[in-house]
Formats: sequence, structure tokens, C-alpha cells
Amino acid sequence: MKESIYLALDFPNWQEANSFIEDNHLQGVPVKVGMELYYREGPRIIERLKQNNHKIFLDLKLHDIPTTVMRTMSVLSSLEVDMVNIHALGGSEMIQRAREGLLNGNPNFDTKLIAVTVLTSMDEQVLNNEMGIPGNLLETTVKLSSFAQKAGVDGVVCSTHEVNRVKAICGEDFITVTPGIRLVDSNVNDQKRVATPSIARKNGADYLVIGRSITQAENPKKAYEQALVEWEESTCN
Ligand code: C5P
Repeated sequence: MKESIYLALDFPNWQEANSFIEDNHLQGVPVKVGMELYYREGPRIIERLKQNNHKIFLDLKLHDIPTTVMRTMSVLSSLEVDMVNIHALGGSEMIQRAREGLLNGNPNFDTKLIAVTVLTSMDEQVLNNEMGIPGNLLETTVKLSSFAQKAGVDGVVCSTHEVNRVKAICGEDFITVTPGIRLVDSNVNDQKRVATPSIARKNGADYLVIGRSITQAENPKKAYEQALVEWEESTCN
């Protein structure tokens, strides 16, 4: 269970990310590497983190034509990270080709393929009025999860509020990764669908992604530990 909380390394470079880990004694915790850090440092950031025994979720959210995604996944497969992701909105063919790229690129390593459903920074109003996707956000997330599962993903990124329904439709073994996590007294920032680690666990989330509630906390180590305690003390309903 100590492996369930991924720390979002939203830093501009390796030096800052590494200093943060070392200064706060967070060596070896699971980490999420996003676009900012990966585009700056490239694959060597993954090698360095692996040398330091971190589990890695490489959060690049691919969304492109199927062939490009397939070829890119084939390249990323050699990094042997635990999870990579694509946008469900890229469609079934893109997802199938992403899976193919991972498999053919590195048949010996089981990197989990995760689909982003509806970003946790978005709400129903944005979905309906800006993106032209009608209906209820929960049902859209469930629909995206269900078709992404059929196309070959191992799980989805969704908010804690949707985990229950996603699991009910896609099954208990279908992985749910939930960002938008806030500790009791932290700032919501640009996230809209937020919840605490305890609620996430109770709703059945498998993994949490936490960034600013830890990185911007007065005492990040304490904040990480608080999240772990909340997570471990709560049980799935
Ligand atoms: O700082 P905060 O905890 O809001 O950070 C959340 C992290 O999770 C960010 O790195 C963001 O890119 C990522 N994420 C997200 N929503 C998704 C997928 C990833 O917030 N649907």
C-alpha cells in the first residue's frame, strides 16, 4: 500500500526535482513524471529515477494519429516504466495502436497503459459548453473508460468521484488512477474535481497522484506522510 501514492514531480528540471526529493527525504517514493520535466530532461530523467529505485508513471498523455502514437509508444516501451498514458479521446484505433507499440517495442516488460478520461481540471460546464460533449460528466467518464477498456487499456485516470462507477462497469481489476487530491487544509488551485486521499481510497481508487498538496506544503515530508496515513487508515467501501 505504500506504493499507491505517486508524487507528481512538476519541476522544471532534474536538479530541482532531485533536490526536492533529497531535502524532504522522499527517496524511493513512486513518482509521476509529466511533460514539463520529461521535455526538459528527456529519457535520462527516467534512468536516473530508476537508479534511485522510484516506481514511475510517465504522464505524457499522448493524443495523435494512431501510427504516430504506436511508434512513440514503441520508443517509450524501452524505458520500462510502470505506467504510461494516452487520451481516451484519441479513439479506439489510437488506443489499439498504442498497445501494439508497447507490446512490439518491448515484449518482455509489462508497462501498464492508462487512458486519461476527462481531465480533473474540467467540469461539466466546460465539457458541455466548450467541448460540445453533451450530458453528464460522470457518464462521459464511464463511457470513455468502457470503450478504452475494450480497445486495450489496463485502466484510466479519472477523479475520485467517478471511481465507483468506473469499477462497477469495468470491473475491480481495472486500474483507476486519481489526481485532484487535496489534503484537508490545502489549496484547490486549478483542479475542479478534488477530494482527499481518504475519500479516494473509500471510493476504491488504486493509485493517487499528488502534486502541489505535497510540493507546496510547508513541510512536504509531513504532507506525504499525512496522505499515506489517510490512505492506509481508510478502507474501500
Ligand atoms: O498539483 P496537483 O496535485 O493538482 O497535480 C496533479 C498532477 O496530476 C499534475 O501533474 C497533472 O498534470 C496530473 N494530472 C491531472 N489530471 C489528469 C491527469 C494528470 O491533474 N487527468
